[in-house]
Amino acid sequence: MRGGEGNRILLASGKPVFKGHEIVIKHCFPITTMLNDNVDDNSSLLAVEASGLKKTYPGSDVAALSGISLSVRQGEIFGLIGPNGAGKTTLIGCLLGLLRPDSGTVKIFGKPADSLAVRQITGYVPERSDFEYWMTARQFLQYHHGLARRDKRDREREVAEALESVELSKTVWNRRLKTYSRGMLQRLNIAQMLIGKPRLALLDEPTLGLDPTGVTLVRNLVKKMQDDGMTAIVNSHQLDEVERVCDRVAFIKQGKIASVQDLHSGAVSDYFLLVRWPESQLNGRLTSLVAEVAEETKASVDEYHHDWGRFSVRDNKMASLLIRKLIERGVPVEEAVPERAKLEELFANESSSDQTGHGGIHDE
Ligand SMILES: Nc1ncnc2c1ncn2[C@@H]1O[C@H](COP(=O)(O)OP(=O)(O)OP(=O)(O)O)[C@@H](O)[C@H]1O
Ligand SMILES: [Mg+2]
Repeated sequence: MRGGEGNRILLASGKPVFKGHEIVIKHCFPITTMLNDNVDDNSSLLAVEASGLKKTYPGSDVAALSGISLSVRQGEIFGLIGPNGAGKTTLIGCLLGLLRPDSGTVKIFGKPADSLAVRQITGYVPERSDFEYWMTARQFLQYHHGLARRDKRDREREVAEALESVELSKTVWNRRLKTYSRGMLQRLNIAQMLIGKPRLALLDEPTLGLDPTGVTLVRNLVKKMQDDGMTAIVNSHQLDEVERVCDRVAFIKQGKIASVQDLHSGAVSDYFLLVRWPESQLNGRLTSLVAEVAEETKASVDEYHHDWGRFSVRDNKMASLLIRKLIERGVPVEEAVPERAKLEELFANESSSDQTGHGGIHDE
């Protein structure tokens, strides 16, 4: 799904333009008739409420969405994970009102997804952006500033702020986008989402093509957005990042929600800590030592051998206590490495039961 010229989708008809199966939004116009149609400030409203979403693309015999229901609270950062072709981007399209589900409903702050008032407060980082490559970054954001109907007097300041917040060097602000690298375009893509100061942001693979600094930047931006009261839905294959920023995560599989995990409940933040020690210095005390330390720290022993042990720990605090106790008891710890996180574990378990992507990459 393409986001056309980004996220500020204010179509004169109030409807997205469909071309074939893809959404192509080429010309977006601010609407004046929507002035009185504002989204309610009522904090008890759910930011997103989707119910029974089903969607099969024309010409396809496999459903991209097979009945998805989802609620996201205001201020929440909600993650979407799942294999390629699972339906994450399609779901985002339906939540944005860019794709029409075959059945089911979407309410954003209590209003229909495709209402103009909703579009005005919604930011979107599309999976595949369609930039106007002849524009400079500054022009591109100025254009989006207009689409977002922001006050023109604030334009230069807000455009500069957005470019600064994605750490695009000033030296490229006036360069045409056709000269931009992929990562630079992705940073601009994120800046474009920020420009209208949306209340709800939908980020489809926001770290795609970004260098490690960019990945950290996205993490910090999402956290800041939350501090500022925004709600966000983040679809990403970077599970460690999802784990760091999200409050809850839905695992999407074959167009359905296979499970929803609350990342603050403790259950998902557990991880394995692999600890290595030299065998020679333990003099046969290993079994009792491991059991005692596990008992004291409340970590559980997953497996241990003569020179290493794998412990399940709830958090970093428990991990450091475990290492300290081992050392105190004379285990000369050489190395302690966190193994794959629970979300990764969940991904592997949920995915292993069948092939990747229904009608997706294995569908020949
Ligand atoms: N424009 C389209 N026309 C036909 N089928 C489509 C179209 N876009 C997606 N699909 C199909 O819908 C299903 C869900 O695709 P979607 O892009 O939503 O997956 P995704 O979870 O976002 O995958 P990825 O992680 O690869 O981005 C897949 O089977 C895909 O082949
Ligand atoms: Mg996708």
